[in-house]
Amino acid sequence: MAAPRGPGVPKVLIAEEAIRRRVGELGRQISEEYEQAENVHLVGVLRGSFIFLADLSRALTIPGSVDFLAVASYETAVAPGGPVRLITDLRTDVAGKHVLVVEDIVDTGETLDYLMRLLALRGPASLKCCALLSKPACRKTDVRIDYLGFEIPDVWVVGYGLDDRERYRLLPYIGIRSDKRAD
Ligand code: IMP
Ligand code: MG
Repeated sequence: MAAPRGPGVPKVLIAEEAIRRRVGELGRQISEEYEQAENVHLVGVLRGSFIFLADLSRALTIPGSVDFLAVASYETAVAPGGPVRLITDLRTDVAGKHVLVVEDIVDTGETLDYLMRLLALRGPASLKCCALLSKPACRKTDVRIDYLGFEIPDVWVVGYGLDDRERYRLLPYIGIRSDKRAD
């Protein structure tokens, strides 16, 4: 798909080809490290991770399964920066499974920290996480990211599943939102 151009279109931060290459590398690394596991159970965090998870899952060369959960986003949270809320839980029991949480971006780290603690209580055989993007400058927790695509500066990014109040999710690249957020 050709990247859209013109005024107001987010400036490219990470191009499609660079994402494709990095996702391929992550897929190879994860496949090697989970080779002994019978199955890797991917847990996608809706909605931002859906494109990343779709591409990452197809870059794996090991057997896997997929489930999703959803958490409150900044936009819908009653108190932004407040406690993370689970909106939709998994459909499957993760006990005894090799769980890999797939997140779009780790900003303060509160969402991932909450999810890792929640899932750890359910007795998985192993529990790791893979995030496409991380903004280390914004971190408020010491959550560990086992597999990371790219570190980025403190900017609001959109595209490849990430949104700005539901806009730009379907852009094929990671862009920087062109206008300043009103909130
Ligand atoms: P955290 O809990 O502060 O780490 O925030 C994580 C969530 O905030 C991510 O899963 C995203 O949904 C959202 N988020 C954080 N930064 C961005 C961004 O730059 N663009 C789009 N969504 C973001
Ligand atoms: Mg997210």
